[in-house]
Amino acid sequence: MMIQFRDLQRQYDHVKVKVDEKIAGVVTSAHFISGPEVKELEQTLADYVGVKHCISCANGTDAITIALMAHGVGDGDAVFVPDFTFFSSGECPATTGATPIFVDVLKDTYNMDPKSLEAAIQAVREEEQLTPKAVVAVDLFGQPFDVPAIKAICEKYNLLLLEDGAQGFGGSYTDESGKKHMACSIGDIATTSFFPAKPLGCYGDGGAIFTDDDNIALLCRSIAVHGKDTQNLDDPNAKYNNIRLGMNSRLDTLQAGVLLGKFQVFRDEELDAVNHVAELYSSLLSDVSGLTVPVVKDGMYSSWAQYTIQLPDGADRAAIQKAMKADGIPTNIYYIKPMHIQGAFEGTRSSMAECPTTEKLCKSVLCLPIHPYLTDDEVRFVVEKLKGAL
Ligand SMILES: Cc1ncc(COP(=O)(O)O)c(C=O)c1O
Repeated sequence: MMIQFRDLQRQYDHVKVKVDEKIAGVVTSAHFISGPEVKELEQTLADYVGVKHCISCANGTDAITIALMAHGVGDGDAVFVPDFTFFSSGECPATTGATPIFVDVLKDTYNMDPKSLEAAIQAVREEEQLTPKAVVAVDLFGQPFDVPAIKAICEKYNLLLLEDGAQGFGGSYTDESGKKHMACSIGDIATTSFFPAKPLGCYGDGGAIFTDDDNIALLCRSIAVHGKDTQNLDDPNAKYNNIRLGMNSRLDTLQAGVLLGKFQVFRDEELDAVNHVAELYSSLLSDVSGLTVPVVKDGMYSSWAQYTIQLPDGADRAAIQKAMKADGIPTNIYYIKPMHIQGAFEGTRSSMAECPTTEKLCKSVLCLPIHPYLTDDEVRFVVEKLKGAL
């Protein structure tokens, strides 16, 4: 049996008719940049997430950078970022000129640890070198971060809360009153990625920013297209009136078409299907001594960008990966290195973080194949081979 880590071919077989139709429509119209599909997608996703504005852009990395730039984050600012995440979450604050301050994560959900966050904020305040400005809270592996605790800290210290929902799109958080908040509607501003392997992926690079703030939305649109004058879009020459520095970060029309073609299946079928896969994994792995399965907290719904286990103490991870690969099962390690020891931050204030949980996780985590099209038999096969390898 050959298993795909994320089976995009099987997905294509399922969505082919709709996606092909959209692609053909874009190619026929030859409206490759800023075609009508882009606006339609933005409206569809804004409605789904429950925010006023969705601003599409070229990828999830640009989305974070644009969101930070729109809020004036830059030189002299401290931005608090989990130590256990994809590089972009910390790279983007750094490219604005701010200093990422890495914060430890929780062992069970892999998401930002509120206690570690508060300790890091206090340390920065006491040093009086940087101004605490923002928190990049990541919905890691598909599950929203600890919303009430992180929000309360942001309010207490007057920090911008940026939700990095690159992996969380489609997930949700239900608050104590029973109100459901979709991922990418949780922060003051939120971002996502449409990288092909993400919960909602396109056929190339893509990303989006979500905000309820009209002014910030205009600023994001402006920054994403060379700082053009977005206040006067009715003026045909506004496009060439550049009132600030920005970048070239558009979602192209073909990718918007692909996402429109996939969206309904994502919302109505894939999220349930991937949750079924995760539940089956967790129940089949529950009897493995010392192995930790991912925990989804009460009120949280995950979009399962990854299914990440922690191997028992002393397990030889490399040997397990090798044995599983020989059985046709790909595995990955997200993430093998804490952010604060990445070479890019060497010798900077960012490298001074103390994050023992992240360090331990980087040594013990293993991501198993997961996607909505994995069959029960395939899940059983992966589990049987993993148990054998252990
Ligand atoms: C948590 C997180 N943030 C940001 C990104 C960046 O997204 P992109 O690859 O679309 O730039 C990723 C992508 O892997 C991610 O996982």
